[in-house]
Amino acid sequence: MKRTIKDLKNIQDKRVLLRCDFNVPLDKYGDILDATRITASIPTIKYLNDQNCKLIICSHLGRPKGYDKFLSLFPVAVCLMKYFPNKVKFCPKVVGDEVKRDIAKMKSGDILVLENLRFDPREEENDLSFVKELASYADIYVDDAFGVAHRKHASNYGVALKLPNAIGFLIEKELKVFEDAFKNPKKPFVAIFGGAKVKDKLLLIKNIIGKADTVLIGGGMAYTFLLADGIKIGKSIVDLELVDEAKDILVEARKANMKVILPVDHVALKYDRVVKTNNLDADMVGLDIGKRTIKLFAEEIKKAGQIVWNGPLGKYEDKRFRKGTFMVAKAVAKSSAYSIVGGGDSVGAINTLGFADKIDHLSTGGGASMKLMEGKTLPAIEVIDTL
Ligand code: 3PG
Repeated sequence: MKRTIKDLKNIQDKRVLLRCDFNVPLDKYGDILDATRITASIPTIKYLNDQNCKLIICSHLGRPKGYDKFLSLFPVAVCLMKYFPNKVKFCPKVVGDEVKRDIAKMKSGDILVLENLRFDPREEENDLSFVKELASYADIYVDDAFGVAHRKHASNYGVALKLPNAIGFLIEKELKVFEDAFKNPKKPFVAIFGGAKVKDKLLLIKNIIGKADTVLIGGGMAYTFLLADGIKIGKSIVDLELVDEAKDILVEARKANMKVILPVDHVALKYDRVVKTNNLDADMVGLDIGKRTIKLFAEEIKKAGQIVWNGPLGKYEDKRFRKGTFMVAKAVAKSSAYSIVGGGDSVGAINTLGFADKIDHLSTGGGASMKLMEGKTLPAIEVIDTL
């Protein structure tokens, strides 16, 4: 069992470096479009604040190449100010004298939010000089950044090796949810996978054989499976190198009595015309699941005891091809099954439709939750001490 913040003794008045994943979507004015990842870490921040720690919070935001004023963590600090009035200060630097001065001035119960970690390229390189500087700011390190736990960066991997450490409540909850769901799934267990890249999901589907009863596949990745099943896919996205592997997975799944349901109709582009079709002709690009597939998927979702969903069922970034994802979101929200949803667009669809309170667990990690579902460990959690 990993050490959690509740296991940390005598932390009152100590300097705690808290790594969060505040990689939230912002609009062009810097307004936060979805604060789920911030609110998800509030219990950890509140607990540490109640212990009167001097709390130094750090996070990445986006994938900047050096400084980028549109990816500042300032809006995040402003959001935190609403939860902790008169306690939060923003430091516009990641490392250096200004940070050191601000930390030296902190009183117990103060919260300091540092600027975006990725403005310094040493963060992603897990560079030792960067690790040492971050570690010098605090007496204790707490990791609550589940969304980035599959990365081995300075602030979530290197620093954990240098300081007494623990996981926060958010990571503790995420780990428990995924462990329970895969060890003791409520039956029937229906898994829904989408997204463009089949490569990202093959291991996941392999690992779910023998655990799930039904797998529903949509999104760009479905076309590699359809081709593997001998179905024409027109000009749809496909990973030809993975067709054989997809074929093997289908054979293995069917042997294990796991139902794999692929799209039976599509919303496609024929040149620049949107068409609804059962068959993808040579000049068509499939971009969303069609009406019959939605119905088929909804029937399976209705029968489920547990649902795990990751990835959009169509080209979600294009409004014309969002219906499949929205309808599946609706079916999952309506179902009485225990439901877990992860991944940016799937969680985005749930939030857009106002269904968040109808889902048992909205994961704050897309890539990280996928790794857990593949049966892998997460490097940033591996380095946290066990009890
Ligand atoms: C995410 O949004 O998946 C995490 O914050 C990790 O971000 P990254 O993929 O840019 O490392």
